[in-house]
Amino acid sequence: MIKIQNITSIEAFAVRYPVLRSGKPIESCQFDGDTLSSTVHFGLFVDEKLIGVVSVFQNNNGTFKYENQFQIRGMAVLPEFQKKGFGELLVKQSEEYVLNKKGTIIWFNARENAVGFYKKIGYEIIGTPFSIADIGIHYIMKKKLHYAHE
Ligand SMILES: CC(C)(COP(=O)(O)OP(=O)(O)OC[C@H]1O[C@@H](n2cnc3c(N)ncnc32)[C@H](O)[C@@H]1OP(=O)(O)O)[C@@H](O)C(=O)NCCC(=O)NCCS
Repeated sequence: MIKIQNITSIEAFAVRYPVLRSGKPIESCQFDGDTLSSTVHFGLFVDEKLIGVVSVFQNNNGTFKYENQFQIRGMAVLPEFQKKGFGELLVKQSEEYVLNKKGTIIWFNARENAVGFYKKIGYEIIGTPFSIADIGIHYIMKKKLHYAHE
């Protein structure tokens, strides 16, 4: 059985850590703004086991001229569950949430290896790649939602 439900940021560490911060201190799993009331964390459960997470932050990026922008962070699916459509379900859940909040765009810093995944589900690269210390090359990507007016 598959379900997506709200979880806490601490619960998200169970997937963030092995997938995104392996070998680093556990504190590196915590993101600024994780506990703000405007932040939401979704967990995808397969037979009651948490196997995928994503977090959605209300956060404007000055690169874009839109109001009420949202950022996705900490998108991760456990290795043995990847490429089965679960990542896409988590992004769809985030998009639904942002639309409900009348958000205009979703943007994020995408790891180089995940760019193909995001392109497949309708996100585009903005600008040139940049490096995030200890993690690697990233690209800003975005998707314009229904409520976006330039
Ligand atoms: C990137 C990640 C979240 C994708 O989740 P997933 O559950 O494996 O992806 P899905 O199975 O939902 O993939 C949806 C589509 O994208 C494709 N896809 C998945 N990962 C891809 C990749 N790295 N490159 C290109 N296409 C990819 C899938 O084949 C699928 O296409 P299809 O519908 O034609 O079969 C997951 O692989 C992951 O956790 N990776 C490691 C951590 C990471 O890089 N996180 C992103 C940080 S920005």
